[in-house]
Amino acid sequence: MISYGKQFIDSSDIAAVRKVLRSNWLTQGPLINKFELKLKKYFGAKYCSVVSNGTGALHLAGLALGWKKGDIILTSPISFLASSNCILYSGATPDFIDIDKNNYNIDINKLEQKLKKLKSSSKKVVAVVATDYAGNPCNWKDLRHIASKYNIKLINDNCHAIGATYYNDKSYAVKYADVVTHSYHPVKNITTGEGGAVLTNNKEISEKVNVLRSHGIIKSSKATLLKKGLWHYEMNELGYNYRITDIQCALGISQLKKINKFIKRKKEIARIYDEQFSRDSIFKIPKVEKNYGHAYHLYPLQINFNQENEKRFFFNELYSSKIKLQVHYIPIHLQPYYRKNYGFKRGDYPVAENFYKKEVSLPIYFSLKKNEIYRVINKIKIFLRKK
Ligand SMILES: Cc1ncc(COP(=O)(O)O)c(C=O)c1O
Repeated sequence: MISYGKQFIDSSDIAAVRKVLRSNWLTQGPLINKFELKLKKYFGAKYCSVVSNGTGALHLAGLALGWKKGDIILTSPISFLASSNCILYSGATPDFIDIDKNNYNIDINKLEQKLKKLKSSSKKVVAVVATDYAGNPCNWKDLRHIASKYNIKLINDNCHAIGATYYNDKSYAVKYADVVTHSYHPVKNITTGEGGAVLTNNKEISEKVNVLRSHGIIKSSKATLLKKGLWHYEMNELGYNYRITDIQCALGISQLKKINKFIKRKKEIARIYDEQFSRDSIFKIPKVEKNYGHAYHLYPLQINFNQENEKRFFFNELYSSKIKLQVHYIPIHLQPYYRKNYGFKRGDYPVAENFYKKEVSLPIYFSLKKNEIYRVINKIKIFLRKK
């Protein structure tokens, strides 16, 4: 079965994990710090905290920024649920901004219009969660400008864009956003099985995340231990268990060594799809603007299906040929939970809804072979010709 994404594990990954299994530390050992150092270096961040998954990273980001009931946080509907659910975890209220039809990221003009409107009604918008959808960076220069103008914080849900560049800079994410989150789920550009990280250049945010990822426990100083006993620890605020293991960090360190070659291959695959699907107006290929370095976690192709059910038939047909495509994403505001609890409805975000009707995520991963790429291309073209 050819899937839309897949991890690549080689013998050096296996050796790294095996080494940890034979060591004294399975979790919270020396590799936590080592993985954090490597990530800091690669992504140009002053601080990094590795955690158990990308959702936990987003939850901790919101907590570290002090989100609470009454706060409004804006995000876009074309992202994974976690980008919006993290707002609910802290009791704050989510609201959406439609996507830009050209890059599928949050629409910057609509964001500014909404901020103006909410400000005049004295509603308290405190932050924006912006996803670099599919691996294509948002317009971070403009986002930064708007955030400073309206005094709001920026979270870059960077889970798709691990290894992307913006104006030739792979440390763009921490430069423009206050907090950056990663996921190392197997379909992402590098994997630790489950895993994630919070990256930032802000010391306070980082310290808060470090405490909250492990129950809110503060490690006692040597002096306190001597005074109160060697077993002493203290909890002053409510935290969680979002710890990651040394086993996962060993895999992460080994995977990070391969990130450049993973992305290089993904770009090669994307060029083949671009070339094959740009000739027919039934398709729309993802556009990458000058100065943007797409990391191709996904290759979102838009297809003009001409009947309501055609996309469903298309998926079934490809599945029967052992090609398992995916759709990213069902717009978050259309999920029953969001409709029921927040009153969102069909038609609220027309660009996102139209994108959803057309979007198909094509297979794109390091080990995808040339003959498999062309099998996917041919099956798609044959299906659409038959109709
Ligand atoms: C944009 C985005 N944000 C957050 C997450 C959550 O990451 P995780 O699955 O590691 O919790 C994902 C993962 O699919 C994602 O794609």
